[in-house]
Amino acid sequence: MLAENTLLPARFEHVPLAVFAHSPAASCAAAAEVAGLIRARRGEGRTVVLGLATGSTPVSFYAELVRLHREERLSFTNVITFNLDEYRGLPADHPQSYGWFMRRHLFDHIDLPEPQIHLLDGSVPDAAVDAHCREYEEKIRAAGGIDFQMLGIGRNGHIGFNEPGSARGSRTRLVTLDPLTRRDAAGDFGGEEHTPRCAITMGIGTILEARRIVLMAWGRHKAGPVRAAVEGEITAQVPASFLQEHEHVQFVLDHAAAGALTRYRTPWVAGAREYQGRAWDPRVTRRVAAPASDLH
Ligand code: GLP
Repeated sequence: MLAENTLLPARFEHVPLAVFAHSPAASCAAAAEVAGLIRARRGEGRTVVLGLATGSTPVSFYAELVRLHREERLSFTNVITFNLDEYRGLPADHPQSYGWFMRRHLFDHIDLPEPQIHLLDGSVPDAAVDAHCREYEEKIRAAGGIDFQMLGIGRNGHIGFNEPGSARGSRTRLVTLDPLTRRDAAGDFGGEEHTPRCAITMGIGTILEARRIVLMAWGRHKAGPVRAAVEGEITAQVPASFLQEHEHVQFVLDHAAAGALTRYRTPWVAGAREYQGRAWDPRVTRRVAAPASDLH
């Protein structure tokens, strides 16, 4: 997936980036990569295994996959999917469950056969959770592993529901949600008191085994965690920073989510602006001239 800057040197960044002016173009580029993979595998008579994420970030990505199915005859009959995570305690038909989200945004609109869909079940009894998680991992293995893993990022740097403190080698398991994650989700549940306290999530180790990983992020509220994951040290305090260790990862960002990266925030540190594929614009010129206290 190519976008502005992708091939240009960025010595502060520890993962490859594709930065787009706006999220719809970024989502289309990510969907085009997935469509290309699905078609290539079909040509070889093979299946493709997708790891799927939820949240507001991938909505336009799924809309583009649906459009490709409807208008460009992209078929999903050779696709197998595994979702990343699910809230604990919600049955699959709960309108805030991730299972429901996936049906609404993707599964109900494409020709993906039901037996090829894998979702974590948030409603399994306590005593069965560990076995459920182990079986999920076994199913991923039996399917041949994940070819393409889509990710979003939480404001605390989480991936899936791997909250700060999650281990590099963690596997699919029951987790307790971070207060910031619950606060961010509270709007969907009609208040924090109704927001689940736990979830089941693929682990960081599970995610890192995917052969290709694309993390998407849009908006200024993601600029801090994106910077920490891309430019910071690898630490369990920012679970997305573990992605720096993956050989075939890419962050797909809009300008706002990329806005705290050194190449945009202080481009005179990162190197000549023309080497970064961006022209000087009034916003940057203002920053160069502004006292440090005015920088945002
Ligand atoms: C939830 C999900 C994550 C997702 C994150 C960001 O916590 N478990 O997989 O990446 O939210 O959500 P959004 O895309 O709505 O910002």
